[in-house]
Amino acid sequence: MNRLTDRHAVVTGAASGIGWEIARLFHTEGAAVTLLDSDAKGVHACAAELGERAFATSADVTDEVSLERSLDAAVRVFGPPRVCVNSAGVSTFGPITRLGLREWRRVVDVCLTGVFLSVKHQARRMTGGGSIVNIASLTARQPAEGFAAYCAAKAGVEMLTKVAAMELGATGIRVNALAPGLVPTPLSETLTQPPLRGGIVAATPLGRMGEPADIAPAALFLASDESSWITGDLLMVDGGAHTRGYPDVTESLQKAQRRRRR
Ligand SMILES: NC(=O)c1ccc[n+]([C@@H]2O[C@H](COP(=O)([O-])OP(=O)(O)OC[C@H]3O[C@@H](n4cnc5c(N)ncnc54)[C@H](O)[C@@H]3O)[C@@H](O)[C@H]2O)c1
Repeated sequence: MNRLTDRHAVVTGAASGIGWEIARLFHTEGAAVTLLDSDAKGVHACAAELGERAFATSADVTDEVSLERSLDAAVRVFGPPRVCVNSAGVSTFGPITRLGLREWRRVVDVCLTGVFLSVKHQARRMTGGGSIVNIASLTARQPAEGFAAYCAAKAGVEMLTKVAAMELGATGIRVNALAPGLVPTPLSETLTQPPLRGGIVAATPLGRMGEPADIAPAALFLASDESSWITGDLLMVDGGAHTRGYPDVTESLQKAQRRRRR
């Protein structure tokens, strides 16, 4: 049985990686899917691949006006959303003493403020209740040297999720987060190539990196009625990596950065 039949699902960051895999799975499960992304060309191509019951809209999740415009357009097409997944994200590498303020703000803006704005404007439009799933990260709980902005933003997403769950429970909206471990996508490109890849795999009890297809079913569980009494939680989907420490990738990443600058 399809678990999202006749439900309108909005997925941000849907043009690539984890967001795209979630959009595809939700579509297979019967949802009408709004794919939202700042990559206009990419998001239209993805929606075209899904065919009917798919609507593409381009918006920057850090821009409240553009985000509201896109969500209003989505409501006009498919009605109030019952499910929203917030997957739009960016990352950066840089030890704190060398991390520029502009770079810090870019990551915190997209990864944390973008989720705040998304939850705010999605919840206002989820008039029939439903489920919001925020994509956090293993690094919401596990510190990783060189990733201060990303870790801080993702830890913020966990707490934002809990507060949103408290505030929105009475309106029938559940809010949960997923914490993926390392998954090869454009965002994680440097970490998932050799030589860093080996250290990451060694720090993962299940002995491999994840795939977007490992993450999407967990998002489906949190989006569907199967999780109807779960809210305010963060589900680790990381091959058990949270049981160990984040491997020291600083030296290798700095070398890779220097090579790229040359
Ligand atoms: N890949 C991993 O290892 C990993 C691990 C843990 C968590 N995550 C999280 O999963 C989510 C998806 O990441 P991914 O790995 O699929 O990356 P990705 O780069 O494949 O996809 C990210 C998508 O977000 C979009 N995006 C970026 N900034 C945006 C903005 N301001 N407004 C709208 N869209 C924007 C991009 O265009 C892209 O399509 C992110 O929140 C990321 O932090 C990824």
